Amino acid sequence: MTDAVQKITEKLKAHQIEDAGLEARLILAFVLGVDENELFFACPPLNEDQEKRAEELVQKRLQHYPLCKLLGQKGFYKYDFIVSKDVLSPRPDTEILVEAAIKYAKEKGAKKILDLGTGSGCIILSVLGDVASLNGVALDSSEKAIKIAAQNAQKLGLENRVKFAKGSWFDVDIVSRLGQDFDLIVTNPPYIPTQDIADLAEEVKAHDPMQALDGGEDGMVHYKQIAKVGYQMLKKGGKIFIEGGIGQEKQIADIFVKEGFLLVDILKDYGGINRCIILKK
Ligand SMILES: C[S@@+](CC[C@H](N)C(=O)[O-])C[C@H]1O[C@@H](n2cnc3c(N)ncnc32)[C@H](O)[C@@H]1O
Repeated sequence: MTDAVQKITEKLKAHQIEDAGLEARLILAFVLGVDENELFFACPPLNEDQEKRAEELVQKRLQHYPLCKLLGQKGFYKYDFIVSKDVLSPRPDTEILVEAAIKYAKEKGAKKILDLGTGSGCIILSVLGDVASLNGVALDSSEKAIKIAAQNAQKLGLENRVKFAKGSWFDVDIVSRLGQDFDLIVTNPPYIPTQDIADLAEEVKAHDPMQALDGGEDGMVHYKQIAKVGYQMLKKGGKIFIEGGIGQEKQIADIFVKEGFLLVDILKDYGGINRCIILKK
């Protein structure tokens, strides 16, 4: 580890920040404008401005400001996504859903994908990036999130293959507005039970939008509505890929089965948590 990386790593570690070494490299890579991997064995000297900028970032991080929101970007699947206070920070847990959706879309030669609650756009854009046959529609009730997702589409050169729609799955005209011809649907809706939000890590509850977290009293309010409208928007034989919170997979599967879906699979994330529920119409 180089001296500069080590110095920052120690500061972060002293404040119980996990992955301190990686975060130190990300901070330095950001201020130096280089790739984080370049800093494993050598770190170019920092000028005065870079030194000052790095220290400011470290100080904010020590106050539990999430690193990706400080840097304005987060690596997810194969890409760096623009993030802000207006979108949920993409989580590695969600990559399992992306991989499953890509595999299915490739096998079926799928043409149309719908993302319900797109946030930064990390799910749909990652799938579109790998499956050339696909075009997509991405819905979010947050205008500000849609703006960030549209910036990400532009950044990845996918802007001509995705339409963004501002609206809610509770809107009475949502099915007629978005259409009923989707080959697959992907969704990671808000699923934290309202009373559990106070117990979330500071990084999450103070910096991810509440609109992206709050799943209502039992965490299931959005799944119930998505099951209803999702069934109408999906083509016969199509699949829906749903992210769920820890211990929610059976409840979620039941909600969708009740609407007429068939349970296909439940996949674990890299942490061994049952994370992605896959159902078929
Ligand atoms: C948990 S975040 C997921 C964001 C992104 N798909 C991801 O996986 O990182 C849920 C998203 O759903 C959006 N949302 C919440 N309620 C909604 C509703 N009723 N209709 C449409 N979008 C909604 C939020 O604004 C937020 O962007």
